[in-house]
Amino acid sequence: MSSSPLYTRHHPFYSAVKERYSLTRPGSKKDTQHVVLDLTGSDISYEVGDCVGILPVNPPEYVEKTLEAFGTKGDQLLTFRQEPEKISFRHLLENYLNLSSIPKKLIEMIAAHHPQLNELLDHTHKQELKQFQSEREVWDFLYEHRLPEPDPQSLVDILQPLLPRFYSIASHQPSVGNEIHLTVAHLHYLTLGYNRYGVCTHYLCALAPINDWSVPLYLQPHKGFTLTDNPETDIIMIGPGTGIAPYRGFMQKRVWREDSGRSWLFFGEWHADTEFYYEDFWKPLEQEGKLRISTAFSRDQEHKIYVHHRMLEHADELYRWIENGAVIYVCGDAVHMAKDVEATLLTILTEKGHMKPANAAEYLKLLRHEKRYLRDVY
Ligand SMILES: Cc1cc2nc3c(=O)[nH]c(=O)nc-3n(C[C@H](O)[C@H](O)[C@H](O)COP(=O)(O)OP(=O)(O)OC[C@H]3O[C@@H](n4cnc5c(N)ncnc54)[C@H](O)[C@@H]3O)c2cc1C
Ligand SMILES: NC(=O)c1ccc[n+]([C@@H]2O[C@H](COP(=O)([O-])OP(=O)(O)OC[C@H]3O[C@@H](n4cnc5c(N)ncnc54)[C@H](OP(=O)(O)O)[C@@H]3O)[C@@H](O)[C@H]2O)c1
Repeated sequence: MSSSPLYTRHHPFYSAVKERYSLTRPGSKKDTQHVVLDLTGSDISYEVGDCVGILPVNPPEYVEKTLEAFGTKGDQLLTFRQEPEKISFRHLLENYLNLSSIPKKLIEMIAAHHPQLNELLDHTHKQELKQFQSEREVWDFLYEHRLPEPDPQSLVDILQPLLPRFYSIASHQPSVGNEIHLTVAHLHYLTLGYNRYGVCTHYLCALAPINDWSVPLYLQPHKGFTLTDNPETDIIMIGPGTGIAPYRGFMQKRVWREDSGRSWLFFGEWHADTEFYYEDFWKPLEQEGKLRISTAFSRDQEHKIYVHHRMLEHADELYRWIENGAVIYVCGDAVHMAKDVEATLLTILTEKGHMKPANAAEYLKLLRHEKRYLRDVY
């Protein structure tokens, strides 16, 4: 069992970004990075399949702009939820408050001085309100709609808390030492002429200074999604996009343990040339006969090819692997991918196992019960 009772959301370990580099090649429209966090001095021990919780820090620029809109340097001490001690306004903006999403209550508060906002708050304009909120962040909303006598405590009381984000660990500790490796898709988009970023991915991929012991983290142990104990068991790993992360750890462990079980990776991304994450790690394993890889590059041709299409192409063999006792892992997008993959598994069981749909569903349920169908989807 992996465990780390040492650090929690409320008592994190302050780690440092030791290294980060692009997994996407020049010309890619994505920016996915390999981020290495230093665990020196923490006594944290993790297992493959574990996640890490990161407590992000808001961009200094947004903090400064918010303080400017409030006409203050932010030294005043304020109360925040159940926190026993008062905390400075600046520190709250940096570490405690969600500066990305604008609560309706904040619009209501500002509308008292900017009556043109009242129309948006009318119940007949729900869609417009949603769009207004999604295009802006707290800082530019406040910047555009100044208050005559801004009260920092009322802002603090209204904003949502800044929550931790979770990332699958992409390493095996005995193989990498005192480090946690992550595969982070740096979220970026443009609205109203501004480049916007995901809070935590921007923090990890761009803002956190290298070798600065300021990145708060804690371990989130897996709930069964880990490499099988049996080195002879075959594994099928399905993980498009950042869903590939845990499998890097799984394969590091398989090599380190000298497993004899076969391993099959289904990976998908946009283009083979620019988004084949960790290609240099997988290819030698494939050449040494330690890994089989099936790739689905969705945008290298006119029609979409996804991991589940590759699964169908190899349905006979996949069914034989499953019948032979293989463990199936699925990691990545929960909304579309995991559902399509499950439907495909059911199709394979129905067609290749000559099962009725209800029996295929029972079979999958049994696999789940036996911890042979494991998912870590988000
Ligand atoms: C168990 C688990 C494991 C995970 N593992 C990984 C992993 O290994 N790698 C990884 O990269 N992620 C992983 N994630 C996702 C990760 O936790 C974060 O949700 C993700 O990185 C985004 O965080 P963020 O703080 O950068 O973005 P946020 O600041 O939370 O921003 C996300 C929000 O941005 C807004 N947004 C996005 N695009 C647009 C747009 N075009 N227009 C307007 N608004 C937009 C949306 O409101 C969206 O909800 C995992 C999640 C879970 C639960
Ligand atoms: N909640 C959602 O709706 C949703 C969806 C996707 C990603 N995300 C989140 O966005 C972040 C970044 O994602 P990511 O960079 O890991 O990549 P991703 O967006 O998951 O994409 C990876 C690959 O999966 C393909 N894909 C799209 N739909 C699929 C499906 N139904 N079945 C199988 N493959 C499918 C994509 O193709 P195309 O892009 O060419 O279609 C792409 O080639 C993650 O945090 C992820 O959770 C959320």
